Parts: sequence; C-alpha cells; structure tokens
Amino acid sequence: MDVAALHHTLTLAWLGLAAVTFLVLQFISAPYGKHIRDGWGPTLPNHIGWAIMETPPIVVFSLSFALGSHKGPVDVAFLCAFLSHYVYRGWIYPFRLPTAGKRMPVIVCALAFTTNILISWLQSWWLFELGPAHTMVWAFDPRFLAGAALFVFGFWLNHDSDAILRRLRAPGETGYRIPHGGGFRFVSSPHYLGEIIEWTGWALATWCLPTTAFLAWTLANLVPRANETHRWYLDRFPDYPRERKRVFPGVY
Ligand SMILES: NC(=O)c1ccc[n+]([C@@H]2O[C@H](COP(=O)([O-])OP(=O)(O)OC[C@H]3O[C@@H](n4cnc5c(N)ncnc54)[C@H](OP(=O)(O)O)[C@@H]3O)[C@@H](O)[C@H]2O)c1
Repeated sequence: MDVAALHHTLTLAWLGLAAVTFLVLQFISAPYGKHIRDGWGPTLPNHIGWAIMETPPIVVFSLSFALGSHKGPVDVAFLCAFLSHYVYRGWIYPFRLPTAGKRMPVIVCALAFTTNILISWLQSWWLFELGPAHTMVWAFDPRFLAGAALFVFGFWLNHDSDAILRRLRAPGETGYRIPHGGGFRFVSSPHYLGEIIEWTGWALATWCLPTTAFLAWTLANLVPRANETHRWYLDRFPDYPRERKRVFPGVY
C-alpha cells in the first residue's frame, strides 16, 4: 500500500475511532482533572502530563511543513494557526495552571500523546504534501474566510474561558467554585465550546477529510466530557445556575 492509500485508510479509521470513542465516553469519563479517580495506574504531575501530551502536534506539524512540498502563504497560515493553538496548549497553558500537587494517570498522557501524533500526521501530511496545493485562490474562498473568522473567535473563547477558570483559585488553592461571566453565562464548558468552534473553523478553512476527522475526534471527546462536567456541577453545587446548558448555548 502506498502512503496516499495508507493515509486515506487511516483517516477513515479515525472517523470510526471517533464514533467508538464517543460511545465509550458515554459510560466512562476520562480520568483526569475533576474526574480523576483511583484504579488507572501510575500517575505523573498534571502540568508535566499536559506538556508531554500536547507537544507532538507542534513537532509533527513543523516536520510535515519542512518535509512537504506545499509552502505557499496559505500553507504558512495553516501552520501558524495550528501552532498558535498547540504552542499555547503544550508549552504555556500547563505552566499557568493553578494545579499544585495535582496528578494525572500516565495512561491518559500516553494515549493522548499517541493519538496526537497520528491525528497531527493525518492532517499535516495531507495539507502540506498529499492534498491539493493551496494557491492564493484558496485565500479568497468564502470557506477559508468564514473558517478563519470562526477559528479566531473559537480561539478567543477558549482562552477567555480558560482564564476565568484560572482566576477562580487563589495561589496554592486546589478546590472548585462555580465559574461566572464570559461564556459561563450560557454553558458549563465554554472552553470546550471555544475549542469546538476553533476546529470547526479549521475544518472549513482547510476543507478536507483529515481535518474533518479531527473535528469529529474533538467532538467525540469534548461533548461527553461537557456532559460529565455539567452533571458534576449540578451534583456538587445546589445553587448552580439551572439555566446553563452543557456546551451548546440554548441547545445542549
Ligand atoms: N481537543 C480536545 O480533544 C481536547 C481534549 C481535552 C481538553 N482540551 C482542552 O484543554 C483545556 C483544558 O481541558 P480540561 O478538560 O482539563 O478542562 P477542565 O477540566 O475544565 O480544567 C481546566 C483547568 O481549570 C481548573 N478548573 C476547572 N473547573 C474549575 C472550577 N469549577 N473551579 C476551579 N478550578 C477549575 C482545572 O483544575 P483541576 O485540574 O484541579 O481540575 C484545570 O486546572 C480546555 O481548553 C479544552 O478545550 C481539548
């Protein structure tokens, strides 16, 4: 099987994996953060885990760009957009977390590390080598323009919501409070909504199956987690605002 055929098969498999993951996460919540529990083997410090598992996308995308044959301005824009997300998530966010003493299971980190390598390769090798070249015509296509706008809005919402969560704790605190303001007026997990909007914009702007598979993967992970998080808040805080939805304002 040549690389293009292997790539196509793996991309389809990834869509299948997203569906299976979505089903499994209806019954088992990923054991990290507020849903961490015993029975998942050895653990490592939370912030180290985040840095390890979110670094592969940076390396894989950079390598694919360096080795691939598509290097026009639109490709540079794709590279910068993707790296802007993952440099923050892998190299800045973990070290700003008010997460002193918290840990995550090694298995969670290892699984995310591995899946991040594969899904990043599927996307980047398509964008920078296997897929169509992105000429300047691409940059004026309504899908690219709408996708870029969505990406920027989602990026902002994700960062703004992460910052609201961060400010809930004084230095050294590790407990939980009800978040207010920003996207939390509408949903319990606006940071997940921001991430979903970001990757929806990405899939639109890049317009290909691998980035759509990545969006499906993001939805498969974050929608069940948003549901768990919403239930967790309702169980824990009797005064939790009942009008909030889980992740999609006014809908779910
Ligand atoms: N693309 C994907 O598939 C994917 C998957 C997972 C996560 N992410 C992204 O990664 C980021 C973090 O995700 P996450 O699942 O770790 O989010 P999270 O569970 O909401 O936790 C984020 C941070 O806020 C703290 N926190 C959460 N709720 C709090 C509350 N009520 N009071 C005080 N502190 C609170 C957490 O502390 P503790 O650690 O102590 O709980 C943690 O430090 C999000 O922006 C998300 O979009 C993306």
